Amino acid sequence: MKPYIFGNWKMNLSRREAIENAFSVAGVVGKRTEIEVMIAPPFVYLEAVNNILRSSTVSLGAQNCHWEESGPYTGEISCSMLKDCGCKYVIVGHSERRHIFGESEAIIKKKYLAVKKAGLIPILCIGETGDQRKANKTKEIVRNQLLAVLEGGDSPIIAYEPVWAIGTGLTPTQKDIEDIHNEIKNLISDLGYSTDKVPVLYGGSVKPSNIRDIISLPSVDGVLVGGASLKADSFSEIIKISIKEKVR
Ligand code: PGA
Repeated sequence: MKPYIFGNWKMNLSRREAIENAFSVAGVVGKRTEIEVMIAPPFVYLEAVNNILRSSTVSLGAQNCHWEESGPYTGEISCSMLKDCGCKYVIVGHSERRHIFGESEAIIKKKYLAVKKAGLIPILCIGETGDQRKANKTKEIVRNQLLAVLEGGDSPIIAYEPVWAIGTGLTPTQKDIEDIHNEIKNLISDLGYSTDKVPVLYGGSVKPSNIRDIISLPSVDGVLVGGASLKADSFSEIIKISIKEKVR
């Protein structure tokens, strides 16, 4: 499987910075096809970023969506609109959506199904909080989050993102990442998926200084990067190291 290096800009960057960043990433990746790089900018920059990425193989993603196709949902964006803007991927179930905006498993499932229906690829984020980890509940939480949404028959991307590792500078040990990624792959296989079609990414404080240790793990198919994707040089460094470690 080729490595997946995905950047989630969250609610950051000016229009000018977004355009500059996209230019740099498109320049680093060029027409390479041995790696899948994606950027998920804020909605309002999707088209501007897409115009730049078109000259490269870098894909465009959205950070969120609404589950209906259209209608009276002030402030919301539908999957067909995202597709119109050039998106290939949509992030669903990010921990910030779950914990700050109170998205339930039921809402995440509706969004997941809407993304698929629009012909886009869902990136389903799962992961335990610090308290759940302390209570030894990591596997149970991750299992429940997968079972609540997945139903076989499609090929999503899974991003394991421990909530306590997001934006904190903390990361699990290599052994912990391997354990949980292997557990996720077993669950996916039990649900009828072929594991070589469902990439499992790690997310949470990925940066140039730890990417080698993370991406070199056999069970890690890629990374979802927040903070370190906001600066073109650190994201480029992550891409370059990933190619070196993972592409043979
Ligand atoms: P971070 O965010 O890399 O800033 O920890 C990761 C994410 O939320 O996807």
